[in-house]
Amino acid sequence: MKAPMRVVVLASGRGSNLQALIDAQRDGRLPIRIVGVLSDKPSARALELAAAAGIPAFVCDPREATDRLAYDRSLFARIEALEAELVVLAGFMRILDPRAFAPWLGRIINIHPSLLPLYPGLHTHRRALEAGETRHGASVHFVTADLDGGPVIAQVGIDILAGDTAQNLADRLLPLEHRLLVRSVGMIASGRLCWSSGVVCLDSRALNSPLVLEADDSLAIRPE
Ligand code: GRF
Repeated sequence: MKAPMRVVVLASGRGSNLQALIDAQRDGRLPIRIVGVLSDKPSARALELAAAAGIPAFVCDPREATDRLAYDRSLFARIEALEAELVVLAGFMRILDPRAFAPWLGRIINIHPSLLPLYPGLHTHRRALEAGETRHGASVHFVTADLDGGPVIAQVGIDILAGDTAQNLADRLLPLEHRLLVRSVGMIASGRLCWSSGVVCLDSRALNSPLVLEADDSLAIRPE
């Protein structure tokens, strides 16, 4: 049997997406082994969650680096040392320098709380509401030099309801984000989904549009 995929998770805060991956790994729902959790914030709850699960947790404090690029390079040196095969950005609140992660292209994914390409960057829920959108959601995508702009792997959408606020939109979306991330990582870890020269491939065929999370938790190809 193939060894579980070695995954490193980067997180700056609460760590609920990390916990979803930990739970899925523990329950045998994901063929991965989280070999390390890295955070830029010494106080990140994600570090406590990792430690509680027996996963090596590391603070990589930007204040100890001479500049941004040096910091990013030290981060990826740590990731390399952990022999990661996949890097998951799960609420990692720093923009990484593409020069630091160039060798990792196609092996880094991010979860972002919007239906990309809509609303890259911050405050996505508020911006979607202010724009009068009727749909909102979350995306898992490969990380490239474009901020929140790499090829999208999978999305989940929800209707925006009358009376929704940024906070309750975020609250309704979060459990779906967890499922989306777990399923997306599962697709990669099982070898079904990969990056090929900047294109997302499923079962060796280029995907024309992102996969969609269904109610039964499967990731489906969107009908043309
Ligand atoms: C999530 O909403 C994720 O989409 C965004 O940051 C948040 C992280 O939440 N990138 P958590 O730390 O995983 O709870």
